[in-house]
Amino acid sequence: MENEFFEKAPDIEDIAVLSEITDGRFLILATNLIKDYEIGDFIVRAVDDLSLKIEKTSFIIIKGPSGAGKTTLLNLIGGLDLPNMGTIYSHGVKITNLQEESLATFRLINTGFIFQNYNLISTLTAEENIMFPMKLAGMSLKEQRERALNLLNQVGLGDRREHLPFQLSAGEQQRVAIARALANDPPFIIADEPTANLDKKTSLFIRDLFSDMKQEGKTIIIATHDDYLIELANRVITFEDGKISNDQVVNSQAKN
Ligand SMILES: Nc1ncnc2c1ncn2[C@@H]1O[C@H](COP(=O)(O)OP(=O)(O)OP(=O)(O)O)[C@@H](O)[C@H]1O
Ligand SMILES: [Mg+2]
Repeated sequence: MENEFFEKAPDIEDIAVLSEITDGRFLILATNLIKDYEIGDFIVRAVDDLSLKIEKTSFIIIKGPSGAGKTTLLNLIGGLDLPNMGTIYSHGVKITNLQEESLATFRLINTGFIFQNYNLISTLTAEENIMFPMKLAGMSLKEQRERALNLLNQVGLGDRREHLPFQLSAGEQQRVAIARALANDPPFIIADEPTANLDKKTSLFIRDLFSDMKQEGKTIIIATHDDYLIELANRVITFEDGKISNDQVVNSQAKN
């Protein structure tokens, strides 16, 4: 058994991050990430040698011009996509080494995603959309229903259970999507422009939902230019041409 333990020496990079992982302070440790998109002969470097550490319970905003690579970065740290180079530890797990099946299970439990275009399943009702990740996680049907209803109430849509996505307004669809992201109560929430194209009242409602998540101690990262969301942040990262051009700790006592 002893031999088995020492069979493979850890690589240098593993040793370097080991203490940071084991002290439990960081939820994400990303090192030297490169993400290229190849279209024919043309290569776009969307993320360019980027390293990033995310402390647990932080509330991070990513800003930056269109095409800067914000969505690409969120997809990488959430394990929705893999980098060409570099490593990502999430919750102490080296997700860049996981096979797709393990990665999918990892995401299901650890990370809630909220997308600009909601990404609801069009053939499922609001309630069923929220139940879906719980079903994948093996929760009983009774629990799925109870929790989905609680979440629908939490996002103010208890009376829209049976609605299909096309029967909901844009703001309502996004609130269902937020409820779905919270379905398995993940500690990490990633949101990509969650209030883009929504009116002020809905944006404020969504801001309050993120504020609640913050108070619950979730770690949150949002790509946005929405001032209402930026108010909640304790760190603002500016992203340009695949690199971090500014990384600022802001009022860490930001109001909730
Ligand atoms: N699937 C893809 N195939 C090819 N190129 C892509 C793909 N996705 C993104 N890109 C390119 O990568 C770069 C970064 O795109 P990304 O969507 O990450 O930017 P962004 O900062 O999120 O922009 P926006 O603010 O408009 O959402 C862009 O130049 C884009 O054209
Ligand atoms: Mg984007």
